[in-house]
Amino acid sequence: MAIRLGDIAPDFTAETTEGVVNFQEWLGDKWGILFSHPKDFTPVCTTELGTVARLKGEFDKRNVKPIAISVDSLESHNQWVPDINETQHVTLNYPIIADPERKVANLYDMIHPNANDNFTVRSVFVIGADKKVKLTLTYPASTGRNFDEILRVIDSLQLTANYSVATPANWKNGEDVIIAPAIKDEEIAAKFPKGFTKIKPYLRYTPQPN
Ligand code: BEZ
Repeated sequence: MAIRLGDIAPDFTAETTEGVVNFQEWLGDKWGILFSHPKDFTPVCTTELGTVARLKGEFDKRNVKPIAISVDSLESHNQWVPDINETQHVTLNYPIIADPERKVANLYDMIHPNANDNFTVRSVFVIGADKKVKLTLTYPASTGRNFDEILRVIDSLQLTANYSVATPANWKNGEDVIIAPAIKDEEIAAKFPKGFTKIKPYLRYTPQPN
């Protein structure tokens, strides 16, 4: 069954390039991003895995642990990693799950048979510290993902997890945010000491609170 926002991220134990991982234990109290790629030794995937390695510091800053997955074997992953390092000028710094029996891929509904029977599509699951799924994304094999956008969404998700705010279209870290409609005007001063601008009763902006 498809995984929906707010669901507890299904747990699993799997072999990875960094040893056997029990997903929930491995996450600990951190956030996670579980992302699938279609196939080892393919060009778009090589650039994606390199990009995430390059952005690892940005994920660390946000307390987010990345983990990749495909239905290839551990042997295949281990043979491919030197190519990623060489061509993307990185040292891979997060685990890749080997899932040749498709246990995790099926658990997370990452194989879309009408797109392709043989490999996972480009799925993304962002998981919060409460182990709940905060974001799902599905891209086709032919389109590499924009991991800067995924970091931007994580910034928004973490803001809304800590404050009663939402973020407007095209919002970027540091820009004004929207006060949740559930907050009454008279509660705003205490909750948002930086002040607010009221455009409509339902559209109230405040400087980013953190
Ligand atoms: C790629 O990563 O380049 C790719 C993988 C599977 C199908 C198409 C492209």
